[in-house]
Amino acid sequence: MNPNLSRLQPYPFEKLAALMHDIEPPADIPAIALSIGEPKHSTPSFIANALVAQVHQLSIYPSTRGLIELRQAIADWLGRRFGLGPSGIDPQTQVLPVSGTREALFAFAQAVIDPREDALVLMPNPFYQIYEGAALLAGATPHLLPCTKETHWLPDLESVPQTVWERCQLIYICSPSNPTGAVMDQAQLMRLIELGQRHDFIIASDECYAELYLDEASPPPGLLQAAAALGLNDYRRCLCFHSLSKRSNAPGLRSGFVAGDAQLIEPFFQYRTYHGCAMPLQHQQASLLAWQDEAHVIENRRLYREKFAAVTAILDGVLEFSTPPAGFYLWPRTPIPDTEFARRLLAEQHLRVLPGRFLSRADKHGDPGLNHIRMALVPPLDDCIDAAQRIRAICEQR
Ligand SMILES: Cc1ncc(COP(=O)(O)O)c(C=O)c1O
Repeated sequence: MNPNLSRLQPYPFEKLAALMHDIEPPADIPAIALSIGEPKHSTPSFIANALVAQVHQLSIYPSTRGLIELRQAIADWLGRRFGLGPSGIDPQTQVLPVSGTREALFAFAQAVIDPREDALVLMPNPFYQIYEGAALLAGATPHLLPCTKETHWLPDLESVPQTVWERCQLIYICSPSNPTGAVMDQAQLMRLIELGQRHDFIIASDECYAELYLDEASPPPGLLQAAAALGLNDYRRCLCFHSLSKRSNAPGLRSGFVAGDAQLIEPFFQYRTYHGCAMPLQHQQASLLAWQDEAHVIENRRLYREKFAAVTAILDGVLEFSTPPAGFYLWPRTPIPDTEFARRLLAEQHLRVLPGRFLSRADKHGDPGLNHIRMALVPPLDDCIDAAQRIRAICEQR
């Protein structure tokens, strides 16, 4: 067996199931789950209709490169969303469709890491668990960047030692962050790009929550936007990852893309040819329409804004938290250990949340997930309100 497999941790939902295995939740209270970040707003019907209308293409093998029409729609969207200017992004060489960003974030490390060189892969802590598994299976060592209240929930780039940057081959960033919702501003992205150019490492920017933000006037900036602002028009060493899962409530479509440096896209394309994860044609056709439409995304944001407003009003003064600018998670501090708090919520209120420590790792700085929970505001508004009231009730009992 590949020895690196034994270095993988159980996925957070396995840890959650083990934590809760002996609990029998009250049957007279309806179950609510805020534990999984699966969008629950309905998928726009035009996406489903396009999928069905194109289903006859099941008889055709899709190509790894993807339809040029889809890549063009993505390039147009990137140009509009991030103001990429006249040089924009080339759909022929700088864009690849992927079957959801999860597989792409994982596969990318396998394609680019050279494990002979004592490689480090940097990532935030807490983090989307794929980054760690990707680094380990690529034969690299994960290096965690603590994201705490003190660091404004973002990696503190200035505290990373030179020796770490020198061994860094790849850094994953996640902005807006899962689980904290924190957003890196353009200056921070530009600083990271400068470090990447100086120390020759690749930046994989996971932007799959970039379209879910609370202030319509302040969309989170993206890595390519920061690169363009630096005049780095070939996006050297920069790759962004985007998804329709959260933006368009279509996690089952398994549709996303990577875009950026053509010198990274090309070897990644070659890797993917062998890996065999081309997006089915009917999914590409439906995705193309989704990237061309903004109305459903604006409505999506409105629904999340409503939920954040209602839930934070109920939890205000009960739990310590800051309302994030983006994403669909709340990351409050718990008054008792996070695992115990999560167990009580299930045992007494039939409510599932994810203990923060299941998304983080302890290192010499401590464990930044400890005594936090992740609440995904994905169920309908009424359920989110109900869930917040249940949390309030538990806190007030103490
Ligand atoms: C931070 C982050 N990145 C990537 C993904 C993967 O999304 P998908 O594979 O559906 O594009 C998720 C899913 O929850 C996520 O939270």
